[in-house]
Amino acid sequence: MLTEGSIVRAFEISDRNPKSWIFKLLKDGEYSTHLGRIDHNAIIGQEYGSVITLTKGEIIVLRPSPRDFLRSFRLKTQIMYADDCAIACSVAGIGNGMSVGEAGTGSGALTTFLAWAVAPDGHVYSFDINEKHLCNAQQNLQLTGLQDNITFKIFDIREKFTVPPLDAFFLDFSTPFEAIDTVTPNLAGGGHLICFVPNWGQVEQSVEKIQQNSELALQQVFEINRRDFNINPKKHIMRPSFRSIVYSGIIIHAIKILT
Ligand SMILES: C[S@@+](CC[C@H](N)C(=O)[O-])C[C@H]1O[C@@H](n2cnc3c(N)ncnc32)[C@H](O)[C@@H]1O
Repeated sequence: MLTEGSIVRAFEISDRNPKSWIFKLLKDGEYSTHLGRIDHNAIIGQEYGSVITLTKGEIIVLRPSPRDFLRSFRLKTQIMYADDCAIACSVAGIGNGMSVGEAGTGSGALTTFLAWAVAPDGHVYSFDINEKHLCNAQQNLQLTGLQDNITFKIFDIREKFTVPPLDAFFLDFSTPFEAIDTVTPNLAGGGHLICFVPNWGQVEQSVEKIQQNSELALQQVFEINRRDFNINPKKHIMRPSFRSIVYSGIIIHAIKILT
């Protein structure tokens, strides 16, 4: 049952470009939309999936996913898209109770997927060299309710550091190859190293660095291709969308071996 403090996504019921809004339920709270005012008290006590009638339309109350949160984020940096975040998490087998690290935090997109996956018992150590980016990411993460599972730190990840042994570390900035040797000692045996880079040159340098490191074994290098479809049953339309993201970046995956 939804209570005060639950985080919800209100999703407009509409055939054309439905809008959605994410907010935390507060006693006597309100949220203004083009469909009219959403009265929080009308949602408290309902279940996810409930339909609420507003002055000019209807909404469904849903549980937000990490992908939904990203759409509401203020972006100060390039981010890892949701598909890349999800696949990177699955490649490294991220789940409840794990300890993971990342750099840089950026706008907190990957952080959200990581914190969601390790919650409620795990932890994310998130490092960024840029204070403004880190503050913005912290603000973005506030809405997710996952902040207690994250430690944010302003830090240059190319410097030596020590944290409790990590199940995985994710590097998403322009020179991940400069941090591979500082991150690897913090990985537990069998721990995963994931680098995400957009350019071939960065792949080459990262792979070279992994291969020079006797504690790492390269597993795979790949990119994700997604094809969206336009669907309109009334007009019998079902075909690939003319607009889509054709490229985001390359995932490099290595594991820590105990030598
Ligand atoms: C592409 S963004 C990361 C996006 C993030 N993964 C997301 O999904 O929102 C790159 C970030 O890395 C940070 N950065 C660059 N060099 C760094 C370093 N040496 N140590 C830590 N952070 C660094 C930048 O300040 C920037 O915020």
